[in-house]
Amino acid sequence: MDVFQIEGPVRLSGHVDVNGSKNASLPIMAAMLLAPGRSTLIGVPHLADISVFQELIAQLGCPVERQADGAGTPNATGRVGEPLLTIDATKIDNPVGPYDIVRKMRASVCILGPLLARCGRVEVSMPGGCAIGDRPIDLHLLGLRQLGAQIHLKSGYVIAEAPKGLKGASIFLGGPFGSTVLGTANVMMAATLAKGRTIIESAACEPEITDLANCLNAMGARVSGIGSPRLTIDGVSHLHPVQYRVIPDRIEAGTFMVAAAITGGQVHVGHCRLDDMMAVVDRLRNIGVSVESNGDGCVVAGTRRLEPVDITTQPYPGFPTDLQAQFMALLATADGNSIVVEKIFPDRFMHVAELNRMAANLRKEGAAVIVAGVKKLIAAPVMASDLRASAALVLAGMAAEGITTINRVYHIDRGYERIEERLNRLGAKITREEGGTV
Ligand code: EPZ
Repeated sequence: MDVFQIEGPVRLSGHVDVNGSKNASLPIMAAMLLAPGRSTLIGVPHLADISVFQELIAQLGCPVERQADGAGTPNATGRVGEPLLTIDATKIDNPVGPYDIVRKMRASVCILGPLLARCGRVEVSMPGGCAIGDRPIDLHLLGLRQLGAQIHLKSGYVIAEAPKGLKGASIFLGGPFGSTVLGTANVMMAATLAKGRTIIESAACEPEITDLANCLNAMGARVSGIGSPRLTIDGVSHLHPVQYRVIPDRIEAGTFMVAAAITGGQVHVGHCRLDDMMAVVDRLRNIGVSVESNGDGCVVAGTRRLEPVDITTQPYPGFPTDLQAQFMALLATADGNSIVVEKIFPDRFMHVAELNRMAANLRKEGAAVIVAGVKKLIAAPVMASDLRASAALVLAGMAAEGITTINRVYHIDRGYERIEERLNRLGAKITREEGGTV
């Protein structure tokens, strides 16, 4: 298992381009299963999670190919060229999502909706939990049942059947933590081929769901209310293959913005959409970080004195839970006390103990953490536990005094492409070493 050695403190400067969104790419790759034929996606990043999903789609009987157009030497920001991914969904031999793949990447459950609509039957392993908490799919199943699917569980698998097809319905998809992103994706994708009209109330409004809806419409679907909590889908008889470019990754963008802020540097973050990140920009500016729109992105400048702020994670357009850990690392050295409340995944605090090993002063109180700002962080050996907690430790390592060792960096490779190369191009001092503690 690889290890990062991170020397700090450093001050980042320069330009970095944000890659295509992991969380838009995954459901959009699943949507390709709805249309017989060969579809091409542009901008899908090279990530471990994407590779696992490619493996899953291929074993359904749909060949997947990757190539980077404009392949050649990396440009100044390390981009080789627009990565292309093609999926040939002409035929689906085997609508089954096996446990050994789904357990590695729980977002694989988003093949449920498209395969049920296309094939009339699908079997997918229940995803199980992960480091950030239980990951139930009861709302996914509730929505698919209301579209007419018969669903039962057997030996850890969900078996969903609709031999006579699906029928539109009015569905309330809100849960105890608000909307569900992949639950909305599954039900929306299934509804595109259902007979009649489906209304999804309390739908997720995340930009990744908007991107999926736009892609589905480009395939011939009829989705309206896009971007709102009420989606209306008028079923059609079939969808056609598409060529589609995924949106930039707002969570990767936010991570790079915090990297500039936590190191007191100045970074031009390119290929990002500030309109998708208003809650994030609001918190950064309240902390005292300068964020100025610039070209196809923004320039972020840190400041010596960080103001403490309160953060509560919420469904979009609220503050994204996927940036909670990164902002906690930033607030660890703010000039006063902050409170971070996690309303989406109340257990998503695996990074707290590790940041405290780096001399942060964080105290967990239920689904909240009190962040008492300290003067500086001190390097230490720490353990990555999940994707975004790992990113927080990298950010803290760049600001801390000394050499921080991060074990199990495979977690970070799931959602960030060549993160150490791209940060080093901005002035970081990160080396990736094979081995390290298990
Ligand atoms: C998506 O996960 C993202 N993953 C997550 O990003 C993100 O943290 C999450 O949305 C919230 O924004 C992808 O898009 C691949 P949810 P998802 O269903 O769809 C509860 C990352 O780091 N819930 O919106 O699985 C659930 O337990 C990942 O990139 C139910 O109760 O999340 C949670 O408390 C991590 N029943 C809340 O809703 C259900 O059927 C939101 O979960 C489904 C969810």
